[in-house]
Amino acid sequence: MKTYMAEPISLPGGRRVYFADELSSTNDTAAQLGKENAPDFTTVWADRQTRGRGRLGRSWQTYPDVGLAFSVIIPTTSVPLPILVSVCLHKALSAFVSPEARERLCIKWPNDILIGDKKLSGILTESYPRPEPASGGERFYVVGIGLNVGVPAGGFEAASNAAALCDVTKAPLERTFVLEAILNELEKTLDLQTRNPDHASVIAYYKNHCVTFGKKVQWRDGQNSTEGVARDMTPEGHLIIQTAQGEITCNVGDVILHGE
Ligand code: BTN
Repeated sequence: MKTYMAEPISLPGGRRVYFADELSSTNDTAAQLGKENAPDFTTVWADRQTRGRGRLGRSWQTYPDVGLAFSVIIPTTSVPLPILVSVCLHKALSAFVSPEARERLCIKWPNDILIGDKKLSGILTESYPRPEPASGGERFYVVGIGLNVGVPAGGFEAASNAAALCDVTKAPLERTFVLEAILNELEKTLDLQTRNPDHASVIAYYKNHCVTFGKKVQWRDGQNSTEGVARDMTPEGHLIIQTAQGEITCNVGDVILHGE
């Protein structure tokens, strides 16, 4: 199997991941590995990305030494993946955050993790057909996660609205521990969901920790935008917004929370 300059390394608990000093985008490398039949949960981590991608065609800046940029191959899930991954990420990060800051660790629809109103982490999910011949039309997913673990030497760019996990932890953080905790949570949750699907508890966790619901929001998807109050979410994870013209359901896009 080609690894595109990423080498297997062991995380502190023994989990194996592919690591590279630099890749164009870990999502691309993970997708390539998936197309070559790499098993589910194969993970690619890079210290730098030259073409890191965010949602809605945005770019994603990875800060060497202090950022985590990684992508995981995930099988099809019955709970919408952005919802499931947000819940796993929130749970994994909660374990590192000091009790005083835990209240401020939250999810913003669809899958940003914030501390207060600043962004700690973003998720980019992409899907590809399983390689022939045995695929039966099945698809696999590449979940890319960008997380600011520490603060870069010169600080974050003023316009980035970024925050770092180490600002709200009790002790300095080693990135490998954070990465392993997230991967463990993802694998545990997906395994549980496969054996005993429990959508209700995942959705309930998401809604309990999501700051979007009940807020005045501006929704946008790059072409369109509208304002209203975010009321709820459909079982597919789409946002329901009450606008002056009536209720609309948004399946892609992003929201700006009133006051941001
Ligand atoms: C967003 O908030 O817009 C999503 C950001 C996702 C960034 C991660 S970093 C690892 C992976 N590789 C990429 O090119 N993007 C994702």
